[in-house]
Amino acid sequence: MENEFLNIVDKRTNAAYDVPLNQGTIRAMDLRKIKTGPEDFGVMTYDPAFMNTASCKSAITFIDGDKGILRYRGYPIEQLAERCSFLEVAYLVLFGELPTEAELKGWVDNITHHTMLHETTKKFLEGFRFNAHPMGMFISTVAALSTVYPEARNVLDPETRKLQIYRLIGKVPTIAAYTYRHSLGFPYVYPDNELSYTENFMNMLWKMVEPKYRANPVLARALDILFILHADHEQNCSANVMRAVGSSQADPFVATAAAAAALSGPLHGGANEEVLKMLDEIGTKDRIPAYIEHVKAGHGKLMGFGHRIYKNYDPRARIIKWAADQVFEVTGRNPKLEIALELERIALEDEYFIKRKLYPNVDFYSGIMYQAMGFKPEIFTVLFAIPRTVGWLAQWQEMLEDQEQKIARPRQIYTGYEARDFIPMEKRGVKTTSVTS
Ligand code: ACO
Repeated sequence: MENEFLNIVDKRTNAAYDVPLNQGTIRAMDLRKIKTGPEDFGVMTYDPAFMNTASCKSAITFIDGDKGILRYRGYPIEQLAERCSFLEVAYLVLFGELPTEAELKGWVDNITHHTMLHETTKKFLEGFRFNAHPMGMFISTVAALSTVYPEARNVLDPETRKLQIYRLIGKVPTIAAYTYRHSLGFPYVYPDNELSYTENFMNMLWKMVEPKYRANPVLARALDILFILHADHEQNCSANVMRAVGSSQADPFVATAAAAAALSGPLHGGANEEVLKMLDEIGTKDRIPAYIEHVKAGHGKLMGFGHRIYKNYDPRARIIKWAADQVFEVTGRNPKLEIALELERIALEDEYFIKRKLYPNVDFYSGIMYQAMGFKPEIFTVLFAIPRTVGWLAQWQEMLEDQEQKIARPRQIYTGYEARDFIPMEKRGVKTTSVTS
């Protein structure tokens, strides 16, 4: 609502300020006007981890964490997962509307024709150690694309941007598949342009000596749904990194690599790999209560549980559970599912988790499904990074087109020393007293 104000009285000066309130938000810069005198810097806000700060306006993804709602461009995630292909959703996320048939065809064609890697990039990948973590290989190789396409630096040109978007979305499955084959010591498989995005990815992962790889349609569809669920998630840690790095007008390859690096952490996209390790550690259902007590006593976290925004069941976790059932009909049930279901049941009845509103998140069931499909846990986060590249690019584009955005540069509250004199080497080691608390 417009024309709403917060009336703030500064008790230091007894001056009153009307601070405009728009969509429940005040502009932090308006607080700067609250000063004790001309020399005063003005009031700042302090918000470690951005707990209550909107860093941008965005029209891409809507989340209502209390109600467990997720929408891309206004469309409920459940409808998109049921009715769309991943590339159709990618178009929606990036360009704001569902594509017409002709637009979709052109879009798919453009992505398909950018799936190949330059041979030097292939050689670059070959240089990694045999046991290199796929996520490390993925991050480095995406960054290395910046050297292959130097024109990508021209980030203010919309046509150049579009070409890099085709390249990145086209090439991330190829890089991901090569990291996987590399860790197995298998030869790399070139993309097959006759296949869909997901089928081609599976082809590059699993084709051996057969002349043509045919993906199981149930598994290909399940992977496509997983990709849809992971396409974007508004201002999460990695999207924030994409925007921050992109705000310096760095090219989209290095910005995407930085976002992927943020994703790799165990508190973000790295959690799916950690869930599998946790289920392995628990081992059997009878050990779950003891494990939960261990977590409640402050020893680690229940991986795949909790979310900064969702204080209800993550809607993506619900859809993954459904997709996992389809996968298990083909692959047989992953024995870890029994442990996961029981862990969820016990945790959701436990006062500790109820009080803190901790529910399974997207990572809790995705790994169990990926493992049933034949993926090793080390590649789970790479599987997350492929579709999230779409979201990162949409966030990056939106940031560059937003007239209000500038280079991201937070403030700090300085807690270090006041100015002090240099100490020559021979006098160092003599204890000095800090002037700060
Ligand atoms: N297991 C046990 N306790 C937890 C968990 C968990 N998984 N998550 C949060 N808590 C507890 C915290 O210890 C804290 O308790 P306290 O109030 O007694 O100190 C309380 O719940 C609030 O948690 P915060 O850490 O303040 O929540 P925050 O929003 O900062 O963290 C996060 C969210 C990082 C996702 C956290 O829940 C977590 O670490 N979960 C496990 C890792 C995970 O699954 N990450 C994937 C997230 S989804 C994604 O990025 C794709």
